[in-house]
Amino acid sequence: MSLPKVYVGFTIQEAGLAVLRGNVDFEMWEGDGAAPKDILLKKLADADGFLEGHSKVDAELLDAAPKLKVVSNYGVGYDNIDISAASARGICVTNTPGVLTEATADLGFALILASARRLMEANAFLRSGEWNVWSAELMVGVDVFGATIGIVGLGQIGQAVARRAKGFGMKVLYSGTSRKPEAEAESGAEYMPLDELLRVSDFVSLHCPLNDATRGLIGERELKMMKKTAILINIARGAVVDQEALFRACSEKWIWGAGLDVFEREPVPLNEPLLALRNVTTLPHIGSASRASRDGMAACAASNLVAALKGNRPQNLVNPEVWKGR
Ligand code: DGY
Repeated sequence: MSLPKVYVGFTIQEAGLAVLRGNVDFEMWEGDGAAPKDILLKKLADADGFLEGHSKVDAELLDAAPKLKVVSNYGVGYDNIDISAASARGICVTNTPGVLTEATADLGFALILASARRLMEANAFLRSGEWNVWSAELMVGVDVFGATIGIVGLGQIGQAVARRAKGFGMKVLYSGTSRKPEAEAESGAEYMPLDELLRVSDFVSLHCPLNDATRGLIGERELKMMKKTAILINIARGAVVDQEALFRACSEKWIWGAGLDVFEREPVPLNEPLLALRNVTTLPHIGSASRASRDGMAACAASNLVAALKGNRPQNLVNPEVWKGR
Protein backbone atom coordinates (compact mmCIF):
# COMPACT_ATOMS: atom_id res chain seq x y z
CA MET A 1 0.00 0.00 0.00
CA SER A 2 1.33 3.42 -0.86
CA LEU A 3 2.11 5.88 1.91
CA PRO A 4 0.13 9.10 2.36
CA LYS A 5 1.63 12.11 0.58
CA VAL A 6 2.81 15.00 2.70
CA TYR A 7 4.19 18.40 1.85
CA VAL A 8 6.43 20.06 4.45
CA GLY A 9 6.15 23.75 3.66
CA PHE A 10 9.40 24.86 5.30
CA THR A 11 12.64 23.26 6.45
CA ILE A 12 12.25 21.45 9.75
CA GLN A 13 14.72 19.73 12.04
CA GLU A 14 15.89 16.12 11.64
CA ALA A 15 13.91 15.23 14.79
CA GLY A 16 10.74 15.79 12.76
CA LEU A 17 11.97 14.16 9.57
CA ALA A 18 12.85 11.02 11.56
CA VAL A 19 9.19 10.74 12.60
CA LEU A 20 7.96 11.21 9.02
CA ARG A 21 10.32 8.65 7.42
CA GLY A 22 8.66 5.32 6.76
CA ASN A 23 5.26 6.68 7.78
CA VAL A 24 4.58 9.11 4.96
CA ASP A 25 5.91 9.94 1.53
CA PHE A 26 7.09 13.49 2.01
CA GLU A 27 8.67 16.36 0.14
CA MET A 28 10.05 19.44 1.90
CA TRP A 29 10.59 23.06 0.88
CA GLU A 30 14.27 23.75 1.39
CA GLY A 31 14.35 27.40 0.38
CA ASP A 32 14.37 30.35 2.78
CA GLY A 33 11.40 30.72 5.13
CA ALA A 34 8.07 29.21 4.15
CA ALA A 35 7.27 27.98 0.63
CA PRO A 36 5.62 30.71 -1.47
CA LYS A 37 1.93 30.45 -2.21
CA ASP A 38 2.30 29.43 -5.89
CA ILE A 39 4.44 26.45 -4.81
CA LEU A 40 1.96 25.49 -2.09
CA LEU A 41 -0.95 25.62 -4.53
CA LYS A 42 0.88 23.09 -6.73
CA LYS A 43 2.30 20.85 -4.01
CA LEU A 44 -0.92 20.56 -2.04
CA ALA A 45 -2.97 19.54 -5.08
CA ASP A 46 -2.43 15.85 -4.30
CA ALA A 47 -1.23 16.02 -0.67
CA ASP A 48 -2.91 14.19 2.21
CA GLY A 49 -1.01 16.16 4.84
CA PHE A 50 0.60 19.57 5.16
CA LEU A 51 3.18 20.41 7.81
CA GLU A 52 3.76 24.15 7.91
CA GLY A 53 5.10 27.03 9.95
CA HIS A 54 3.82 30.58 9.51
CA SER A 55 2.18 29.84 6.12
CA LYS A 56 -1.16 31.50 5.49
CA VAL A 57 -3.64 28.64 5.32
CA ASP A 58 -6.90 30.07 4.03
CA ALA A 59 -9.96 28.79 2.16
CA GLU A 60 -8.30 29.40 -1.22
CA LEU A 61 -5.34 27.20 -0.30
CA LEU A 62 -7.57 24.50 1.19
CA ASP A 63 -9.75 24.49 -1.94
CA ALA A 64 -6.62 23.73 -3.94
CA ALA A 65 -5.97 20.68 -1.72
CA PRO A 66 -8.95 18.37 -2.23
CA LYS A 67 -7.35 15.31 -0.56
CA LEU A 68 -5.99 17.16 2.47
CA LYS A 69 -6.79 15.53 5.83
CA VAL A 70 -4.47 17.39 8.21
CA VAL A 71 -2.68 20.71 8.57
CA SER A 72 0.01 20.35 11.19
CA ASN A 73 1.23 23.69 12.51
CA TYR A 74 4.84 23.97 13.71
CA GLY A 75 4.14 26.29 16.64
CA VAL A 76 1.57 26.79 19.35
CA GLY A 77 -0.07 29.88 17.81
CA TYR A 78 -2.26 29.08 14.82
CA ASP A 79 -3.67 32.47 13.89
CA ASN A 80 -2.18 31.88 10.40
CA ILE A 81 -4.81 29.18 9.79
CA ASP A 82 -8.48 29.72 8.99
CA ILE A 83 -9.79 27.11 11.44
CA SER A 84 -13.44 27.33 10.41
CA ALA A 85 -12.48 26.85 6.74
CA ALA A 86 -10.46 23.77 7.73
CA SER A 87 -13.24 22.37 9.93
CA ALA A 88 -15.85 22.97 7.22
CA ARG A 89 -13.76 20.72 4.96
CA GLY A 90 -13.22 18.07 7.68
CA ILE A 91 -9.50 18.86 7.88
CA CYS A 92 -7.73 18.37 11.24
CA VAL A 93 -5.54 21.21 12.47
CA THR A 94 -2.87 20.53 15.08
CA ASN A 95 -0.28 22.61 16.94
CA THR A 96 2.71 22.09 19.25
CA PRO A 97 1.98 23.25 22.80
CA GLY A 98 4.04 22.13 25.78
CA VAL A 99 7.38 21.47 24.10
CA LEU A 100 8.10 25.19 23.77
CA THR A 101 6.64 26.48 27.03
CA GLU A 102 9.79 26.85 29.10
CA ALA A 103 12.01 28.16 26.30
CA THR A 104 9.43 30.79 25.39
CA ALA A 105 9.01 31.83 29.02
CA ASP A 106 12.81 32.08 29.34
CA LEU A 107 12.85 34.44 26.37
CA GLY A 108 9.99 36.45 27.84
CA PHE A 109 11.94 36.87 31.03
CA ALA A 110 15.08 37.74 29.07
CA LEU A 111 13.08 40.55 27.41
CA ILE A 112 11.83 41.75 30.80
CA LEU A 113 15.40 41.93 32.13
CA ALA A 114 16.89 43.35 28.93
CA SER A 115 14.24 46.07 28.67
CA ALA A 116 14.32 47.00 32.35
CA ARG A 117 18.12 47.12 32.58
CA ARG A 118 18.67 48.52 29.06
CA LEU A 119 20.95 45.65 28.02
CA MET A 120 20.79 46.17 24.23
CA GLU A 121 21.28 49.90 24.60
CA ALA A 122 24.20 49.43 26.99
CA ASN A 123 25.84 46.87 24.70
CA ALA A 124 25.57 49.23 21.70
CA PHE A 125 26.84 52.14 23.82
CA LEU A 126 29.98 50.25 24.85
CA ARG A 127 30.77 48.96 21.36
CA SER A 128 30.32 52.35 19.73
CA GLY A 129 33.11 53.78 21.90
CA GLU A 130 30.81 56.11 23.82
CA TRP A 131 31.85 54.68 27.21
CA ASN A 132 34.39 57.29 28.23
CA VAL A 133 33.59 57.62 31.88
CA TRP A 134 31.70 55.71 34.57
CA SER A 135 29.01 57.87 36.14
CA ALA A 136 26.32 57.43 38.75
CA GLU A 137 23.50 57.81 36.22
CA LEU A 138 25.03 55.60 33.52
CA MET A 139 22.33 53.35 32.00
CA VAL A 140 20.10 53.51 35.05
CA GLY A 141 17.09 51.26 34.53
CA VAL A 142 14.05 49.87 36.26
CA ASP A 143 13.97 47.29 39.09
CA VAL A 144 12.64 43.85 38.27
CA PHE A 145 13.04 42.23 41.69
CA GLY A 146 9.98 42.97 43.83
CA ALA A 147 8.05 44.68 41.01
CA THR A 148 4.48 43.87 39.95
CA ILE A 149 3.95 41.90 36.75
CA GLY A 150 0.58 41.74 35.00
CA ILE A 151 0.28 38.66 32.81
CA VAL A 152 -2.33 38.89 30.07
CA GLY A 153 -3.33 35.30 29.32
CA LEU A 154 -2.41 32.76 32.00
CA GLY A 155 -2.00 29.80 29.65
CA GLN A 156 0.98 27.44 29.78
CA ILE A 157 3.51 30.12 28.78
CA GLY A 158 1.92 32.77 31.01
CA GLN A 159 2.11 30.35 33.95
CA ALA A 160 5.75 29.58 33.19
CA VAL A 161 6.51 33.32 33.22
CA ALA A 162 4.63 33.58 36.54
CA ARG A 163 6.86 30.87 38.03
CA ARG A 164 9.95 32.82 37.01
CA ALA A 165 8.46 36.05 38.35
CA LYS A 166 7.93 34.41 41.74
CA GLY A 167 11.66 33.66 41.87
CA PHE A 168 12.24 37.38 41.38
CA GLY A 169 10.02 38.23 44.34
CA MET A 170 7.44 39.80 42.04
CA LYS A 171 3.78 40.30 42.74
CA VAL A 172 1.98 38.40 39.97
CA LEU A 173 -1.38 39.54 38.56
CA TYR A 174 -3.21 38.12 35.58
CA SER A 175 -6.16 38.83 33.36
CA GLY A 176 -7.83 36.66 30.77
CA THR A 177 -11.11 35.37 29.45
CA SER A 178 -11.70 33.26 32.55
CA ARG A 179 -10.43 32.67 36.08
CA LYS A 180 -7.96 29.79 36.46
CA PRO A 181 -8.17 28.61 40.07
CA GLU A 182 -5.61 25.80 39.67
CA ALA A 183 -3.07 28.05 38.01
CA GLU A 184 -3.74 30.72 40.64
CA ALA A 185 -3.03 28.21 43.40
CA GLU A 186 0.12 26.95 41.72
CA SER A 187 1.61 30.28 40.67
CA GLY A 188 0.18 32.58 43.32
CA ALA A 189 -1.13 34.82 40.53
CA GLU A 190 -4.04 37.07 41.45
CA TYR A 191 -6.85 37.67 38.95
CA MET A 192 -7.63 41.24 37.97
CA PRO A 193 -9.73 42.74 35.16
CA LEU A 194 -7.47 44.03 32.37
CA ASP A 195 -8.02 47.77 32.95
CA GLU A 196 -7.12 47.47 36.61
CA LEU A 197 -4.11 45.27 35.85
CA LEU A 198 -2.84 47.86 33.36
CA ARG A 199 -3.07 50.62 35.96
CA VAL A 200 -1.06 48.85 38.67
CA SER A 201 1.53 46.72 36.85
CA ASP A 202 5.19 47.64 36.44
CA PHE A 203 5.48 45.06 33.65
CA VAL A 204 2.59 44.06 31.41
CA SER A 205 3.44 40.80 29.68
CA LEU A 206 1.27 39.52 26.81
CA HIS A 207 0.68 35.77 26.43
CA CYS A 208 -2.75 35.54 24.82
CA PRO A 209 -3.44 33.98 21.43
CA LEU A 210 -4.27 36.27 18.51
CA ASN A 211 -7.95 36.04 17.62
CA ASP A 212 -10.89 38.37 16.95
CA ALA A 213 -11.14 39.20 20.67
CA THR A 214 -7.45 40.01 21.16
CA ARG A 215 -6.57 41.81 17.91
CA GLY A 216 -5.61 45.35 18.96
CA LEU A 217 -6.28 44.51 22.62
CA ILE A 218 -3.57 46.96 23.68
CA GLY A 219 -4.16 50.30 21.96
CA GLU A 220 -3.94 53.99 22.83
CA ARG A 221 -6.58 53.73 25.57
CA GLU A 222 -4.83 50.84 27.30
CA LEU A 223 -1.32 52.27 26.92
CA LYS A 224 -2.51 55.52 28.48
CA MET A 225 -3.78 53.54 31.48
CA MET A 226 -0.35 52.07 32.16
CA LYS A 227 2.10 53.64 34.62
CA LYS A 228 4.61 56.06 33.09
CA THR A 229 7.30 53.81 34.57
CA ALA A 230 5.83 50.58 33.13
CA ILE A 231 7.20 48.29 30.43
CA LEU A 232 5.13 46.37 27.90
CA ILE A 233 6.43 42.93 26.89
CA ASN A 234 5.00 41.16 23.83
CA ILE A 235 6.01 37.58 23.04
CA ALA A 236 2.50 36.61 21.87
CA ARG A 237 1.61 38.04 18.44
CA GLY A 238 2.33 41.51 17.08
CA ALA A 239 -1.26 42.31 16.18
CA VAL A 240 -2.38 42.03 19.83
CA VAL A 241 -0.85 45.52 20.13
CA ASP A 242 -1.64 48.59 18.04
CA GLN A 243 1.95 49.19 16.91
CA GLU A 244 1.35 52.80 15.87
CA ALA A 245 -0.08 53.60 19.31
CA LEU A 246 2.84 51.81 20.93
CA PHE A 247 5.27 54.00 19.00
CA ARG A 248 3.57 57.11 20.37
CA ALA A 249 3.45 55.62 23.86
CA CYS A 250 7.20 54.92 23.84
CA SER A 251 8.35 58.07 22.01
CA GLU A 252 6.09 60.44 23.99
CA LYS A 253 6.88 58.59 27.25
CA TRP A 254 3.35 57.54 28.19
CA ILE A 255 5.19 54.38 29.29
CA TRP A 256 8.87 53.68 30.07
CA GLY A 257 9.48 51.27 27.22
CA ALA A 258 8.70 47.97 25.53
CA GLY A 259 10.27 44.61 24.78
CA LEU A 260 9.00 42.99 21.59
CA ASP A 261 9.65 39.58 20.05
CA VAL A 262 6.73 39.87 17.63
CA PHE A 263 5.38 42.46 15.19
CA GLU A 264 2.26 43.15 13.15
CA ARG A 265 4.29 42.45 10.01
CA GLU A 266 7.15 39.93 10.07
CA PRO A 267 9.96 40.16 9.21
CA VAL A 268 9.54 43.69 10.53
CA PRO A 269 10.45 46.30 7.86
CA LEU A 270 13.55 48.32 8.76
CA ASN A 271 11.60 51.56 8.41
CA GLU A 272 9.28 50.54 11.26
CA PRO A 273 9.41 53.61 13.56
CA LEU A 274 9.64 51.48 16.74
CA LEU A 275 13.08 50.28 15.64
CA ALA A 276 14.45 53.80 16.02
CA LEU A 277 13.55 54.05 19.70
CA ARG A 278 16.18 53.36 22.34
CA ASN A 279 13.57 52.37 24.91
CA VAL A 280 12.21 49.56 22.73
CA THR A 281 14.07 46.24 22.77
CA THR A 282 13.38 44.18 19.66
CA LEU A 283 13.94 40.54 18.70
CA PRO A 284 13.14 38.59 15.50
CA HIS A 285 10.38 36.26 16.81
CA ILE A 286 12.72 33.82 18.57
CA GLY A 287 10.58 32.96 21.62
CA SER A 288 10.84 29.20 21.16
CA ALA A 289 14.27 29.17 19.51
CA SER A 290 16.24 26.86 21.78
CA ARG A 291 17.74 23.58 20.55
CA ALA A 292 15.49 21.31 22.62
CA SER A 293 12.39 23.36 21.98
CA ARG A 294 12.77 23.53 18.20
CA ASP A 295 13.62 19.81 17.94
CA GLY A 296 10.60 19.11 20.14
CA MET A 297 8.35 21.24 17.95
CA ALA A 298 9.50 19.39 14.81
CA ALA A 299 8.92 15.98 16.41
CA CYS A 300 5.57 17.03 17.84
CA ALA A 301 4.32 18.53 14.55
CA ALA A 302 5.40 15.39 12.67
CA SER A 303 3.78 13.06 15.24
CA ASN A 304 0.50 14.96 15.09
CA LEU A 305 0.52 14.72 11.32
CA VAL A 306 1.36 11.00 11.20
CA ALA A 307 -1.30 10.19 13.82
CA ALA A 308 -4.02 11.97 11.85
CA LEU A 309 -3.02 10.25 8.62
CA LYS A 310 -3.11 6.85 10.35
CA GLY A 311 -6.64 7.57 11.52
CA ASN A 312 -5.67 8.17 15.14
CA ARG A 313 -6.78 11.26 17.02
CA PRO A 314 -3.71 13.56 17.09
CA GLN A 315 -2.57 14.61 20.54
CA ASN A 316 -2.81 18.31 19.83
CA LEU A 317 -5.98 18.66 17.78
CA VAL A 318 -7.16 22.28 17.84
CA ASN A 319 -10.47 21.72 16.02
CA PRO A 320 -11.99 18.67 17.81
CA GLU A 321 -15.28 19.24 15.98
CA VAL A 322 -13.76 17.42 12.96
CA TRP A 323 -13.26 14.30 15.06
CA LYS A 324 -16.86 13.93 16.25
CA GLY A 325 -18.36 10.62 15.23
CA ARG A 326 -15.03 9.10 14.16
C1 DGY B 1 4.60 29.72 18.26
O1 DGY B 1 4.82 28.60 18.67
O2 DGY B 1 3.45 30.15 18.08
C2 DGY B 1 5.77 30.59 17.97
O3 DGY B 1 5.43 31.92 17.93
C3 DGY B 1 6.43 30.16 16.68
O4 DGY B 1 5.51 30.32 15.66
